[in-house]
Amino acid sequence: MPTSQASQASAQALAEVAAGLDADHASISPKFLYDELGSHLFEAICELDEYYPTRTEAAIFRRHAADIAHAIGAGSTMIDLGAGNCAKAASLFPLLHPAQYVPIDISADFLEDAVESLRQRFPYIEMSALPLDFSAGLDLPATVSEQKRLFFYPGSSIGNFTPAQAHDLLARMRGQCGADGGILIGMDLVKDAGVLNAAYDDAVGVTSAFNLNVLRHLNRLVGTDFDVRQWRHVAFYNPTESRVEMHLEAIEDTTVSWPGGRRSFMHGERIHTENSYKYRKDAAVALLAQAGFRTTDVWTDDDEWFAVLYARAEGTG
Ligand code: AVI
Repeated sequence: MPTSQASQASAQALAEVAAGLDADHASISPKFLYDELGSHLFEAICELDEYYPTRTEAAIFRRHAADIAHAIGAGSTMIDLGAGNCAKAASLFPLLHPAQYVPIDISADFLEDAVESLRQRFPYIEMSALPLDFSAGLDLPATVSEQKRLFFYPGSSIGNFTPAQAHDLLARMRGQCGADGGILIGMDLVKDAGVLNAAYDDAVGVTSAFNLNVLRHLNRLVGTDFDVRQWRHVAFYNPTESRVEMHLEAIEDTTVSWPGGRRSFMHGERIHTENSYKYRKDAAVALLAQAGFRTTDVWTDDDEWFAVLYARAEGTG
């Protein structure tokens, strides 16, 4: 990124962080959880016994592979949102046989490396990596085929948006879909609060480290002076809002400064860092319908902890 763009981006980040910390109910956007260490910690979370979503979704893909392939058909333009290392999509290539693969992620370097090795393994799939913050906009360039666009959005990442934001993002996907497009999406389902609380507050403390690391990241990114040791990880299921909430709680009275501002936090005061919405199956289908998608298939595990949904752009076959 050229220097002027980089300094504009960091000024924007500072303004966003300052506004969140200054608010009555202080918050930090969950996007700041993912610096390099945060991304590694999230990968470690996916390995935890308590964190069921990753392995449950993978088991659904394995178990229902033939049905998923049949529902979607070959030759799609597979657009992978938040692709990361592209591993989830790549595991579906032998099944879905996409004609084109378009991984989208904020991290350009990471993406290009991942795509380069995939090109060797799947030379018959046309691939073009797109470094983009799709939560800010989803205008796809002309290089992305308009034939049979399939948005791939696994991992229940949609749950990190409020239902209103989720609707807007899905509607943007629908807007880019064309007449024969669709979406294959993973969504975490409402379940026993004990299971949810353990998944977001594991015994080893990896999720705690993931949450606390946001403070270290902001210190480097925008010049806050958080003392990480003065904060603790808090996570719980809020049944009224149907979401797991992550917060950081001050363990003593403390003051945080940043370029142009400061705020004191009393012992026990919290900063809200993430929501992870859980849906009932009918609410998931309704959310997709409101955005213009007609769900044709819902695949779940036996416990109905997680769902993979395939939905077509409304008005198509
Ligand atoms: C990325 N996202 C779907 C994860 C989730 O479950 O909401 C992030 C996460 N936060 C804590 N643990 C995992």
